[in-house]
Amino acid sequence: MFSKTTFLIALLTLGFLACTSKKEADTAAKNSPSPTELNTNQNEVHGTEVKSIELTNPLNKEWVTAGKGIYETKCLACHKLTDEKLVGPGWAGVTKKREPVWIINMITNVEMMLEKDEEAQKLLEQCLVRMPNQNVTEEDSRKILEFMRSNDGEK
Ligand code: HEC
Repeated sequence: MFSKTTFLIALLTLGFLACTSKKEADTAAKNSPSPTELNTNQNEVHGTEVKSIELTNPLNKEWVTAGKGIYETKCLACHKLTDEKLVGPGWAGVTKKREPVWIINMITNVEMMLEKDEEAQKLLEQCLVRMPNQNVTEEDSRKILEFMRSNDGEK
């Protein structure tokens, strides 16, 4: 027959034994973000759909320079500044044929665009490679857009 004390001792022993594995579980939990954390991160990096954007004239020169830097590290491998295709389409003229919001969403939210935007899907048919999400923030995408406008001859 179990007395209350035996029961308590059994509980304590169990607790002690379980200690190491609990610690491991805690670390594992810390390393894999909870669903809520994932959502926040996604919103930060991928952004939700951008609905409107304001262009300024003349161009913001600082953004043009910053955008060029981002282009060189994250986009140059697949996009030329001419109209020549590399992995993706060349960027010459892109700001003339696309709306600014379209471009911003293509940069920050490419999965969504490839899923539901016809123009993006047409490009995929031509290029046969899905543009990977480059983890560009909305703010940085705005700078890249400024660089694209400058590449298209805007001052
Ligand atoms: C691994 C190659 C790759 C990289 C890196 C890449 N892209 Fe793309 N991009 C593509 C492909 C391929 C397409 C055409 C759509 C598709 O097939 O997914 C595309 C399409 C685009 C378009 C639409 C062009 C048009 O003519 O309408 C824009 C804008 C764009 N990318 C911006 C960027 C930006 C900005 C970066 C860097 C932050 C970038 N891409 C990095 C492959 C890439």
